[in-house]
This record gives sequence, structure tokens and C-alpha cells, in this order.
Amino acid sequence: MRSATREGAHVLIDTYGRVATDLRVSLTDRCNLRCAYCMPEEGLQWLSKPDLLTDDEIVRLIDVAVTSLGIEEVRFTGGEPLLRPGLVGIVERVAALAPRPRMSLTTNGIGLRRTAEALKTAGLDRVNVSLDTLRPDVFKALTRRDRHHDVLAGLAAAAEAGLLPVKVNAVLIPGLNDDEAPDLLAWAMEHAYELRFIEQMPLDAQHGWKREGMVTAGDILDSLRTRFELTAEGSEERGSAPAERWIVDGGPHRVGVIASVTRPFCAACDRTRLTADGQIRTCLFATEETDLRAALRGGAPDEEIARIWRLAMWGKKAGSGLDDPSFLQPDRPMSAIGG
Ligand code: 5AD
Ligand code: SF4
Repeated sequence: MRSATREGAHVLIDTYGRVATDLRVSLTDRCNLRCAYCMPEEGLQWLSKPDLLTDDEIVRLIDVAVTSLGIEEVRFTGGEPLLRPGLVGIVERVAALAPRPRMSLTTNGIGLRRTAEALKTAGLDRVNVSLDTLRPDVFKALTRRDRHHDVLAGLAAAAEAGLLPVKVNAVLIPGLNDDEAPDLLAWAMEHAYELRFIEQMPLDAQHGWKREGMVTAGDILDSLRTRFELTAEGSEERGSAPAERWIVDGGPHRVGVIASVTRPFCAACDRTRLTADGQIRTCLFATEETDLRAALRGGAPDEEIARIWRLAMWGKKAGSGLDDPSFLQPDRPMSAIGG
């Protein structure tokens, strides 16, 4: 294997020369919502407790990632990561690692009202809150739970606690909330939240995604332009960030669009993922995983864990394959992989 170093660490590089510096850690596959593009109403099989990594195991793997593999940023995801009882403690322990990674959380916002302050104190830097609609009835139809108010309260608490910038992720679904793009942007600007639209990806547990049905980045921009003037921020600033950003009405506000399907950014991908049951995934759309938990529980030393991780990432595929007619949706849904 070719070896590359960054500040002495043997980094996670693949055969295409991409270096992963951003680690997404799924803390649970469970969720208190049932977003239609993610989970079925009922019948999902959850991971069992013994299969989940313990808090100690998670911190140990993140330690290896930052000290031996060049990881600079850790994003906690789910399912819904706020459902993990040990979350604040995990954040606190990761904040004490050297070098200390930047830390953020992708959440549906429910429960953030109660935990935002503690998370900030523990060392969390930022949050990404998912919110697809400003209408409580549409929220209920989309998530199958009547919790719109809790999300708004969670967002306000995050801003209040200084988990800045507060980013909001929105997915548009035809016939449900696809008319809401301009309203969502006006609302986000009013609250100084940074809004990003995400194209719906084929990651739902029910395998119900259809390309013909999706709202594209082009549709979203057309819709926003009925009310706002958008100027492209310039591609040199996109880097490995998946969101392409537009300056709204001359600034200072920006809006992002993550065109995972129509304009994939795989060539600049800098991610590596760890599932709640300790599997490495090189990509959201990977069809294979590498088992770190077995090595961990088998007593492997840090160097061995780092070696397995490097080897897994070395084999990362060029792209998601979404554009290929033979594309196969991964077996595990987004809730089990971690957004
Ligand atoms: N396509 C696009 N985004 C999705 N999310 C969950 N499932 C999908 C999907 N199939 C979003 C959530 C959250 C983030 C983790 O990913 O809304 O904002
Ligand atoms: Fe829960 Fe997020 Fe899936 Fe919605 S998209 S059901 S909030 S894990």
C-alpha cells in the first residue's frame, strides 16, 4: 500500500488519491421520527444492544482515527444521535483527544432544547438540524410524528447555546413540500440559520426511491429564483464540501444545495464512516463493510485497528455509481449507515 503522511499520521488515502479527514460516526440506528424518505412506519429491525459499540469502544476508535489516521473532523449521526444516552460523555471525551477534532452533530432537533447547552459545554462545535417544512401538518405527514414544535425549539436552543453556525438540512418531496423552498429560505435568513437543500437519495429502508420522482437541484434553484437573486459562490470555495453555495440577494446570506444525485461530488469526497455496530463504510452507497468491532473485541492493538481502517479505505470506489443503470441500492438504510 502507498503510504502518505499528514503531520506524522498515516492518513486514510485511496487508490484515487483522495484523503479522508472527515469521520461520520453513527451512534444509533434508532429514531423518534419516521421520515418517509428514510424509514417505513413500522417493521424496521433495530440493532441489538450487544451489537452496538459501547461508549468506550466509540471513543477508542475515534482516538485511533485522530491520532493515527489524520481525521480532523468528527460528525455524530444516527438514526437520531440524541437518543444515545452517553452522547454528552462521548463528546466530552473526544474533545479531550489530541489533536482535538472539530465536532458536529446531525440531528432531527428533537430533544436539542434540553441538551444543546450541555453539548456545547462538553465541546461540541456545531449542529446540523434536519427540517423539511414550516407547516406542522406537512411535518406530521412527512415524519409521521407531531413534533414540529420540538424541532423549532431545538433549533432556537442550539443557536442560544452558541452551536454556530446552525445549519438546517431540507429534503424536498414532490407533492408534499416541494413548493416550500422560498419560504424555508426566508425563514432561515430571518433566524440566521444556514439552509442547505439535499437531493433525495436512494437510501430509504423501503427501497421506494425513483429518479423520475425526485426534486432536483435545478428545480430547487428555479424555485428559489422566483423570490431571490442567487449568485454562485464560485467553485474554488466548494472544495470537498458537498454543498454548492449561492449568495442570496447580494449577501451576506448563503444557501446551499447538495446535489448528490444530479451533480455527485465523489471525486472530492473526504469521508469515512463508522456504523453504530462498528463497521467501516467507505461511502454511503458502499455495498461492502469492514468489521472493526471484531478486531476491537478480539483485543487488537491500536496499530492493527489503524491498519484495517487504512486497508478498507484504500479500496474505496471511485463513485456512488448512482449514474450507472446497474446501480444497486445498499442493503442498509441511511438510518443504519449514518448521514
Ligand atoms: N436522501 C437525502 N437525504 C436524506 N436524509 C435522510 N435520508 C435521506 C435520503 N434518502 C437526510 C436527513 C438528514 C440527513 C442526515 O440526511 O434529512 O438531514
Ligand atoms: Fe429519523 Fe433522520 Fe431518518 Fe428522519 S431522516 S426518520 S429524523 S433518521
